[in-house]
Amino acid sequence: MPEDSMTIIDNRTGVSYTLPVKNGAIRAMDLRQIKTSPEDFGLIAYDPAFMNTASCESRITFIDGDKGILQYRGYPIDQLAEHCTYLETAWLVLNGELPTESQLEDWTCEIASHAAVPDDIPRILQGFRRDAHPMSVLASLVAALSSDYPEAKNVHDPAVRRLQIVRLLAQVPTLAAYAYRHSLGLPIVPPDPSLSYTENFLSMLWKKDEPNYQANPVLARALDVLFVLHADHEQNCSTNAMRAIGSSFADPYMTMAGAIAALSGPLHGGANEEVLKMLDEIGSSDHIPAYIRKVKSGECKLMGFGHRVYKNYDPRAGIIKRIAEQVFAVTGRNPKLDIAIALEKIALEDEYFVKRKLYPNVDFYSGIIYQAMGFQPEIFTVLFAIGRNAGWLAQWQELLADPAQKIARPRQVFLGSARREFVPLDQRGAAGAAAV
Ligand code: CMC
Repeated sequence: MPEDSMTIIDNRTGVSYTLPVKNGAIRAMDLRQIKTSPEDFGLIAYDPAFMNTASCESRITFIDGDKGILQYRGYPIDQLAEHCTYLETAWLVLNGELPTESQLEDWTCEIASHAAVPDDIPRILQGFRRDAHPMSVLASLVAALSSDYPEAKNVHDPAVRRLQIVRLLAQVPTLAAYAYRHSLGLPIVPPDPSLSYTENFLSMLWKKDEPNYQANPVLARALDVLFVLHADHEQNCSTNAMRAIGSSFADPYMTMAGAIAALSGPLHGGANEEVLKMLDEIGSSDHIPAYIRKVKSGECKLMGFGHRVYKNYDPRAGIIKRIAEQVFAVTGRNPKLDIAIALEKIALEDEYFVKRKLYPNVDFYSGIIYQAMGFQPEIFTVLFAIGRNAGWLAQWQELLADPAQKIARPRQVFLGSARREFVPLDQRGAAGAAAV
């Protein structure tokens, strides 16, 4: 019997099967040989929400959720957050190694030179309502780039792929800033290639009449670190969307529009906006016990808490908490931080949260910092998207280079009606099915 294998006995038939085990996984397709009869389709695995199913082999991000470890390409997140810029991290995530000095210089110039968006984008932007959510505007504008760059369809050409990666990294902040300014009724500010990635983003957001926008260096660095912390997070909901859509060979703009849509949901990236709403609703530390009671009775969730993978403190939340102090030294303390800290303390001691291993996640503190920096809550998830851009693109690239991948197409366990004869309309009687 090979050592790296397991034996399964099918109690329905008494037959035993030996399945290879590689990298701690069996291949789900190896289950297909397990049949009760020659006509049987074969065994499949039922795993709603992919609780225990790996959809790919990846070399980008490692997470140990029990130990609270996060590494990009082997480098611990706290070291990257301390020493790297976002563009340096994006290079690492995309290429597997840290850039040399000259590579980083060329990369920074290349991204800056692609930050201007095509001419039709400002016209499309004008078509959106002022109160449109910036995430829906961002998803639509990213999809619109597909019509500007039709060559992007050629996803199998590495040079074409690389150019679209550069364009997306360069232009998503521009689109995000345009979406935000539109929501505030302000004219757009074109990118300034003489500024760093994050300073340029802040300039496009907040420049008024001054000839040169000067971002506060502490705030610019804090935002850049937040982008680093969000750069990748292995197979989360939006990355899974990126891979699933990319597996049909859709172009990267259409593919990323889908990932942005997935990120917008309140259980995923949209949680940072929800945390602020929740802290507003709680209002003061005295109201925390009553709110915790509501959460425990199932009336609502404690937003910014819990994670599918982390069953320990999310390492990003700890780093964000430290950045908050640097930001508040410039902006003044956001009073919501005190409510959040008190909420965290009570939750971490409460049996409900302890038993379920619910800890603060990346979204718990990020919104408080963004608000102190002057961002409206509607743009919080857009900021998440700018950071995650690097990871989505790296995962898309890895998918396309992986010979084991095919179009994503899960199976289902069918529990609906067996075959039945059609009933003509006039013979269906009064009682129909409940409307969908
Ligand atoms: N507040 C209260 N109870 C919770 C929470 C929460 N935030 N999260 C999970 N639980 C409970 C859940 O009700 C369940 O209880 P029970 O066993 O009694 O049914 C138990 O904990 C296990 O939760 P689950 O829903 O099975 O966990 P999941 O892995 O499916 O969901 C999650 C993960 C992040 C969607 C969930 O924890 C959640 O909804 N959190 C709030 C939203 C949030 O902060 N999302 C941001 C995630 S981190 C950034 C990102 O990736 O976007």
